[in-house]
Amino acid sequence: MLLFREKVPPDWLPKVLANLPAVLVDHAHLERKAATSALNLEKYRDLFGRVEELNAIAIEELQHFQLVLDLLKRRGIPFGQPYPSPWIAGLMRTVRNGQRTQVIDHLICCSLIEGRSCEKFQFLAAALKTSDPELAEFYAGLVESEGNHYATYLLMARSIEPEETEKRLDFYLDLDRNLIQQPNPLPMLH
Ligand SMILES: [Fe+2]
Ligand SMILES: [Fe+2]
Repeated sequence: MLLFREKVPPDWLPKVLANLPAVLVDHAHLERKAATSALNLEKYRDLFGRVEELNAIAIEELQHFQLVLDLLKRRGIPFGQPYPSPWIAGLMRTVRNGQRTQVIDHLICCSLIEGRSCEKFQFLAAALKTSDPELAEFYAGLVESEGNHYATYLLMARSIEPEETEKRLDFYLDLDRNLIQQPNPLPMLH
């Protein structure tokens, strides 16, 4: 179950639907970054015991990346430049230094990114059902996986320090609520 405190703004879906080629390129980069995030989490001592789980997530994200690249190729859309997401940057900017604090914050940020992807992929799957069934099916096929990543990262944080995780989750859910309302004119998933 997703814990978000604010709905995706109503202008997000029309903006994305009107710019699908650019959104697919952004999506490719999002999956690439998801794979590297899973690998980056392996640097924390508290996650040494979870390294194989994190590898499995990284492999899954790399497969998603390849699926988006295949889709781009089929549609004649060239792979292109990544654009930074103000929402992701806003979350990551507040990750604290220090061994415990950093791993908890980093896991919560990764969890929320996965959770918002899961939510937005559901909206895309529903919205594209008649206009672009192939893409609708593609997005529907990713929902479960991103939802699992959301839950896995949150559970990893809770298993390290439950109280600190709840405290920081509260902070990050408020931050997400503020950041998601900031307008982003670029056609991006986040
Ligand atoms: Fe993914
Ligand atoms: Fe994911």
